[in-house]
Amino acid sequence: MKKKLVSMTMAVLLGVSLVACGSDSGKKSDDTTKTDDTSKDDAGADTKSDADTKTEDDNTGGDASGEVANKDKPLVWYNRQPSNSSTGELDQAALTFNKDTYYVGFDANQGAELQGTMVSDYIKANIDKIDRNGDGVIGYVLAIGDIGHNDSIARTRGVRKALGTAVEKDGNINSDPVGTNTDGSASAVQDGKLEVDGKTYTVRELASQEMKNSAGATWDAATAGNAIGTWSSSFGDSIDIVASNNDGMGMSMFNAWSKENKVPTFGYDANNDAVAAIAEGYGGTISQHADVQAYLTLRVLRNALDGVDIDTGIGTEDEAGNVLSDDVYKYSEEERSYYALNVAVTADNYKDFTDSTKVFDPVSKQLDEGSHATKKVWLNIYNASDNFLSSTYQPLLQNYDDLLNLDVEYIGGDGQTESNITNRLGNPGQYDAFAINMVKTDNAASYTALLNQ
Ligand code: BGC
Repeated sequence: MKKKLVSMTMAVLLGVSLVACGSDSGKKSDDTTKTDDTSKDDAGADTKSDADTKTEDDNTGGDASGEVANKDKPLVWYNRQPSNSSTGELDQAALTFNKDTYYVGFDANQGAELQGTMVSDYIKANIDKIDRNGDGVIGYVLAIGDIGHNDSIARTRGVRKALGTAVEKDGNINSDPVGTNTDGSASAVQDGKLEVDGKTYTVRELASQEMKNSAGATWDAATAGNAIGTWSSSFGDSIDIVASNNDGMGMSMFNAWSKENKVPTFGYDANNDAVAAIAEGYGGTISQHADVQAYLTLRVLRNALDGVDIDTGIGTEDEAGNVLSDDVYKYSEEERSYYALNVAVTADNYKDFTDSTKVFDPVSKQLDEGSHATKKVWLNIYNASDNFLSSTYQPLLQNYDDLLNLDVEYIGGDGQTESNITNRLGNPGQYDAFAINMVKTDNAASYTALLNQ
């Protein structure tokens, strides 16, 4: 049995409480005590279900047995952690909905620190040419994904902290967008000072904005492409760095302006197109180890469906030889959350990251259909046009669902309304397990209400 320690370091360093980590036992013990449940079968009649009999009767593949109440079926939240979008406080009710409920994401604060450091390291290494107009001010613009999304908040804070532009608000780094700040007077940020080779430079956040389109979709790449057009036409010469909360928006700005103007642009996600663009001047990105996250998303469901220890094929090698090492993920029992760890992808190492949809080798072995019969999973992607989720995460899930014998139905949302997705969860009785990616992190109850019915 491996124990995993959840480090508090990054949360403390960033001064945020979004991921309130504590120590944890690293794995949950086998839960072999099953209780009888009364549920409705498809015809609406009360049926007695006993999870012990379920494992024997259920190995017929394809359909959900209907014997387990929807509220007792394995549930994984992923990519958007149930939490209060203003305070970041975790939604423990959603995270502990039933004994087989988990969250899978990545360590937002560790990744945010890495992104900030990657940008400041780049500036230091290129100090002789970074200040394009020679005014002594290193200016950057920042594309913000979603002001209510903890990943987005953490990344904004990470960049501001590393560049010295952060100011505190209520004990945390302020992550509000500034609009334009070409004169350095905005209150949500301050001018940073950077000392390199005995010379002091000013670092200024010239502009930042939430990239939300008029229909309400956040992390919107097209909006970011338009924003860089507006910014560059009024103060283009002062922009020395473009930073973005993700690659979708980063690449849109790169293609619209910074590539041609040779302005290093930094994103997050290590999507294939962004990694390839490093060869053409994209400054760098962060891999959030989507290959590990996609595996964990489906693996926790597989384990719960099999009734085995949740750590199987994760910290403990399974019979096929799948296992993850401590350096790629951590587990917090208290938060019922698995977090993949991030890696910076720059000109130094990008060749190792050119295929973001390739399964992670240590967990790439097929499970035996005899002992892991096919089960049906309902899974949604909150926004079918989200660059990261559609071009990296979903292809990975599709690779792993075969290896784990899961028959996954993929539902793509519009990125704007929860009901667009929940409307398509009309018959949860047809599925054995659920993987949910909410539009807003506050909205877990709109899903659990359906499973409780
Ligand atoms: C990703 C973004 C993505 C968002 C969607 C984040 O973790 O980095 O690229 O748009 O999730 O929820």
